[in-house]
Amino acid sequence: MNKELKIFGVVAIFTLVLYWGVEPFAHSQMHKHVEGDNFAYSEFKASGKKGDAVNGKALVTGAAACTGCHGIKAINAPAPMDASMAGASYGVNPPDLSTAGALYDARFLAQLIKNPAHALKVEHKFDPAKGKMHPMTQFYGAGGDIDQEIADIVAFLKSIAPKEMSNKEAFENACGRCHANRYGKMSQLGETPKFKYKKDELKHQVAILEYQDKLKAYMGKLPPDLSIIIRARSEHFLETFIENPQSQLPGTSMPAVGLSHEGFEKVMAYLSETGDPSKPARGELGPLVLIFFIVFSGLAFLWKKEKWKGHH
Ligand code: HEC
Ligand code: HEC
Repeated sequence: MNKELKIFGVVAIFTLVLYWGVEPFAHSQMHKHVEGDNFAYSEFKASGKKGDAVNGKALVTGAAACTGCHGIKAINAPAPMDASMAGASYGVNPPDLSTAGALYDARFLAQLIKNPAHALKVEHKFDPAKGKMHPMTQFYGAGGDIDQEIADIVAFLKSIAPKEMSNKEAFENACGRCHANRYGKMSQLGETPKFKYKKDELKHQVAILEYQDKLKAYMGKLPPDLSIIIRARSEHFLETFIENPQSQLPGTSMPAVGLSHEGFEKVMAYLSETGDPSKPARGELGPLVLIFFIVFSGLAFLWKKEKWKGHH
């Protein structure tokens, strides 16, 4: 065998060992593998009760006091406070509940209503025994069968959930109270409007900074801007982290928000739109490039045949 071939063989073997052996091993050591639950929330037991949306509405706007903190645009219930005041009161602005029935998993919602800190996996931060209450009060029941009442509330939330929800709405409702997305022109106070006067723009910026101060105090740190997170983290990381932040960052104050699978896909689509806006265009270009190569190879082959004709 000649020398070049031997050298090539050695290089090839080393490359393959690095590629299939060393790199995956190092990766597995640096990032522990986390199995997701595919947004099934199998840890939360379903009560099996069939909910009554009409009674659910009466509870949400009455005894369960949900509208005492949350707005519900879908039934024309305004938020009791604007985002700035709510941020000052609770540390974070309670989201509008119009989309909750589609955005969140039903079993998760039932658990959230019964015990918010448990469902959100932030019991390390909120411990009633130490007088540290979660800002969302738990529902103690309205005097009847509490599991039935909770099923009614969830049925109501499902009944008002829109059939279609934009990716941006999903992000705004599930993540927007904590995370900004500069590329999507979103702050924690919602979409940044166009201002005619500089002083109004500055006022808005001050309001954002003030909200962020309260949020920082509540969360321990300012949640990062998510404009380009899709480039910084793998899809698997984002999926398992969003499903259960504790699985990737033990002790973190980010709650497990309880997205349904559909809700997760919409949020990811939004992050992809802002972080990688040219992705759809690239996707369309791919097949064209392949067609070009196939046609070009065919032409090159014909050309070669033509040139070598009669030379053998
Ligand atoms: C005392 C005020 C208060 C009441 C009453 C209240 N909530 Fe909340 N809720 C909050 C706050 C504050 C948050 C945001 C907490 C956070 O992000 O850490 C929240 C968050 C939520 C979320 C989003 C949680 C997630 O998965 O990210 C849902 C859904 C919700 N509440 C539903 C309800 C329902 C349904 C009721 C009535 C049964 C209710 N809330 C009653 C204050 C309240
Ligand atoms: C109640 C506030 C809150 C909500 C709601 C929330 N987050 Fe977070 N998030 C945080 C905080 C705080 C951090 C910083 C965590 C840390 O460093 O411990 C964080 C961090 C992150 C990170 C960075 C993780 C990393 O290490 O790279 C991602 C990604 C993320 N959040 C995605 C989301 C998405 C997507 C949603 C909506 C589905 C969401 N978050 C909802 C508070 C929140």
